[in-house]
Amino acid sequence: MTTPSKFRNVPKTAQNRLLIKGGRIVNADRMFDADIYIEDGIIRQIGENLITPGGAKQIDAKGKLIIPGGIDTHTHMEMPFMGTRAVDDFYHGTKAALAGGTTMIIDHCLPQKNQSLLEAYEDWSTRAAERACCDYSFHVGITWWSEEVKKEIEVLCKEKGINSFKMFMAYKGLFMLNDDEIYQAMCALKEQGALALMHAENGHLINECCKKMLALGITGPEGHELSRPEEVEEEATTRAIVIANQAQCPLYIVHVMSKSAANAITKARREGKVVFGEPIAASLGVDGTHYWDKDWSHAAAYVMGPPLRPDTTTPGYLMDLLANGDLQLTGTDNCTFNPDQKALGRDDFTKIPNGVNGAEDRMSVIWEKGVYTGKMDPCRFVAVTSTNAAKIFNFYPKKGVIQIGSDADLVIWDPNATRKISKDTHHHAVTVNIFEGMVCHGVPLVTISNGRIVWEDEQLHVTQGAGRFVARGVHAAEAYAKILIRDKVRVPQGVDREAYDGPVWNSANAPANNISKSAPKPTFSQDRPSTRHGHRDLHASGFSLSEMGPRYSGNQVDDNVRAKVGHKVLAPPGGKTSIIF
Ligand code: URP
Ligand code: ZN
Ligand code: ZN
Repeated sequence: MTTPSKFRNVPKTAQNRLLIKGGRIVNADRMFDADIYIEDGIIRQIGENLITPGGAKQIDAKGKLIIPGGIDTHTHMEMPFMGTRAVDDFYHGTKAALAGGTTMIIDHCLPQKNQSLLEAYEDWSTRAAERACCDYSFHVGITWWSEEVKKEIEVLCKEKGINSFKMFMAYKGLFMLNDDEIYQAMCALKEQGALALMHAENGHLINECCKKMLALGITGPEGHELSRPEEVEEEATTRAIVIANQAQCPLYIVHVMSKSAANAITKARREGKVVFGEPIAASLGVDGTHYWDKDWSHAAAYVMGPPLRPDTTTPGYLMDLLANGDLQLTGTDNCTFNPDQKALGRDDFTKIPNGVNGAEDRMSVIWEKGVYTGKMDPCRFVAVTSTNAAKIFNFYPKKGVIQIGSDADLVIWDPNATRKISKDTHHHAVTVNIFEGMVCHGVPLVTISNGRIVWEDEQLHVTQGAGRFVARGVHAAEAYAKILIRDKVRVPQGVDREAYDGPVWNSANAPANNISKSAPKPTFSQDRPSTRHGHRDLHASGFSLSEMGPRYSGNQVDDNVRAKVGHKVLAPPGGKTSIIF
């Protein structure tokens, strides 16, 4: 596996040695009080009253929580999209993430239609390596389908450390795949042990509904939500789940924006399907009423796909599902455009570049709406902001946990402090913030990335390009353990039977496009064994159920029940019929 190598030989100084004293460590499974000693970017010791080598910088964390650094599973730094390019590049975007307590992002490398996936990956690797201030990895897009794409998926999995691929059911003509292509792509991902990510919205319907809204004279941002309402997201979510289940490929629904899409995921998980749901900071923190704001620019700032929902109880509902385990983890879909870029759609909402911010504020928004409200405890907070991402995307316990040997990506978190979110103080390149004015409990006091303090006293100390690529192997246990067992125990079995040697209808004799009225009607009465009580008499057939044991002896549950006369069976076992008896 070739991993862009960015390890440097850094001399051992106090900078490389950190001792965090007196804090309460919060992992996804438990909380406990201990000191943490870090050297060369790795957690070396955890314990009470640690004795450590001299020269280590000490940080007092008394009364504070120490949590694994946040992992943002969904960003689009500097992405070219809808006639422009996202303003948060890898530098500004990761700087903002670190200020908010996120120490790793998984960004999207989306090839253009017909572009080689490997070429797109190389381009994205160069961009991230030059600018990212925190560690990163990539989901690669499957934006078109061919045998060539299939081969490149294999190379990306086997040689480049990629194990997750994003597909789109929306953006018709740009990124959208059809169901048969999605099925084939999912089969290819399954073959490699990779995870299928899905943007689930019905692109055909969106196209038609956009035309309808524009014809009605609705050109403003509210047209965006009206043309892709909740059921359009729900239908595609369910369809993606069905296709993934047929391909037996684990599925991850990105940016869950509505109650009904979340319910579809919940239902599928309860049926045992392997599907994960990712709500984002935006869908958990704000709602879609903003699209109806009188100020065009304000309304346009919230335009993203799928849209935020005008049902104001949606964010709380998604948070409930995240807290109780029906949804598993969170990202942001950070894809930011300034007001002048959004204004590309001034006269037509379909041209407003889709995307919002979130990388800096996700941790605080989730603490505020999830922990401060009493919906989730700090351990669950860590699970949904960090640990579950590391498990699902297969880099646990390198990250996502505070334990000896793990990367020293962690945050000293003050659960009692508050901060007010604002475009004036955030560290994004974008000049608006969809969470403007929100006061959040839960503040990152210190962020440590690869053992270095990168955020302290509200000051950033980042190095452009210091972030390292995180290569990820296939067959993540979280996604594949069940599926690999099912592959062995749920193999479809054909019926071992004698070849049929009776007459076969000769279709050459049939009149074209018209079955003759005089043609003999198919009849089964002479061919089939007689029935008892209206059911086939299994004793009269050549098939002996008694050989299969007493449960299958052929006795019918209604053997002692008198047959009803004139009872119409619409859908008896074995197939639909309309025999009246
Ligand atoms: O509106 C969005 N979500 N923009 C980014 C592209 C995508 O669909 O994820
Ligand atoms: Zn998307
Ligand atoms: Zn996205």
